[in-house]
Amino acid sequence: MKWVQPCSADRQIFRPQDVFEAGEQHHHISNTAYPIAHGRTWGPYRVADRGLHRDRVQAAFHGEEPICLYAHIPFCEKRCSFCEYTVVNREESKQTLPYMQRLEQELRFYADLIGQRRIVGFDIGGGTPSFVPAEQIDSLVRLARQRFDLAPAMRISIETTPRIAAESPDKIRAYRQMGIERISMGIQVIQPDLLRILNRDSNGVEHHFRAVENIRAAGFSDFNVDLMYGFAHQTLESWQATVEHALALDPEAITLYRMRYKLTRISDQADQVTLDQVRVLSRWAKQRLKQAGYLANPGKNTYCRVPQDTGTSDYISRRVVQGTPYLGLGLGAQTFTDTTISYNDGAVGKNLMPYLRSVDAGQLPLQDFYQLPLAHMMAKMICVSFYFGEVNRAAFTRKFETSLEEAYGAEIAFAVDQGLMEWKPQTLSMTQKGEDHFSGLCALFHAPSVKGYLLEYAGDMSRDRRLALKVS
Ligand SMILES: C[S@@+](CC[C@H](N)C(=O)[O-])C[C@H]1O[C@@H](n2cnc3c(N)ncnc32)[C@H](O)[C@@H]1O
Ligand code: SF4
Repeated sequence: MKWVQPCSADRQIFRPQDVFEAGEQHHHISNTAYPIAHGRTWGPYRVADRGLHRDRVQAAFHGEEPICLYAHIPFCEKRCSFCEYTVVNREESKQTLPYMQRLEQELRFYADLIGQRRIVGFDIGGGTPSFVPAEQIDSLVRLARQRFDLAPAMRISIETTPRIAAESPDKIRAYRQMGIERISMGIQVIQPDLLRILNRDSNGVEHHFRAVENIRAAGFSDFNVDLMYGFAHQTLESWQATVEHALALDPEAITLYRMRYKLTRISDQADQVTLDQVRVLSRWAKQRLKQAGYLANPGKNTYCRVPQDTGTSDYISRRVVQGTPYLGLGLGAQTFTDTTISYNDGAVGKNLMPYLRSVDAGQLPLQDFYQLPLAHMMAKMICVSFYFGEVNRAAFTRKFETSLEEAYGAEIAFAVDQGLMEWKPQTLSMTQKGEDHFSGLCALFHAPSVKGYLLEYAGDMSRDRRLALKVS
């Protein structure tokens, strides 16, 4: 067995009904962002001495091929108050070149360590990657092609804000010229009042149509738009207008993000939004998108109008369907193998210095390295699979040397019995009812320590934030 032994908290057994109810009750934290309360649930598996990380990484990646690659660009024009990602402050945002040079250096460290692996998905995400000069992205993409074996059919994907896509057509053109084939743009909501409250008022509707013109003129035919729901002060009417607006932009895919409050600057507003309210918004949008020809199976939040296409990047599709290991480069980036998960410097502090210093010292910039037991690795894969509302049976068995039925007999029996999931030839899939109870369903597959945390969780999200910050 290649996984570490579980600690006592991960040997507990809970009744599926109780766990399901706890997940539903704490719907703001029981979702695809696994685990909950890192410090407490993963603390026992954290490996502290950085000196040996190089060997551990090499061992963890042994035999893992193909893999995916992710490069994190932590800069933005302005920090949106709802954002859960690793983004640095305005002062540090002046350091794009020193940062991108260290990012490339980190890529070289890994290429030296694990060799020229085949890459089947490559996302340049953020933050806002289009914030940095196009030459810096070009240099990164060239280096990735040089040091790794990028699969010819693989599509590289990048993210932008509407303002940059509208005002910098040269950047958008340059991305296509460097072989980037997919672009994703965050719209979130369109109401000026709400954008102001969310500190995102520099990215309003005035930029959208120009941005799309530039994206199409550059030759992108794989274009996604992100929308968000579940904010306090967001009415059904305002959400409907946002969805209609996104349809008018005619992207190939539309991704609906339910607001995740955990660890954000507006985490104290979570209690102002009930599960019933988000269900109304989610149901309306999904029905409207289907009617407009954008399809997705229950539980999936990316809707796509191109037949046979997932609508997501290759990096996400591979991670979700196959559980493909990935190497995350850059500030706070996450790396995932079959047995380990690690986070780079900056995941908690969100400042550049520790990351830059580690790379300059010739070290892998790893802040937290976890060697996890089977229950957590399986839970992580399933939570990620739930982006598409289904778990691939063969991929699960290949990764974990056991079947879904063996690993989760009682939980799956409960889910199927309640009409939340159904067996299909290739997958264990969410039903429509399962989608409505997404949080409870996710919780069923969490490792025991996370289930235990949910069952005793008092609903105090600011406490959760303090806990996570303290331990990491
Ligand atoms: C890295 S960001 C996107 C790119 C770009 N910076 C932008 O905002 O337009 C990826 C997407 O995550 C979503 N997102 C950000 N914070 C979130 C949160 N707290 N909960 C759920 N989704 C979130 C947003 O829809 C955002 O477009
Ligand atoms: S949502 Fe996008 S623009 Fe806003 S802070 Fe997050 S990454 Fe930056």
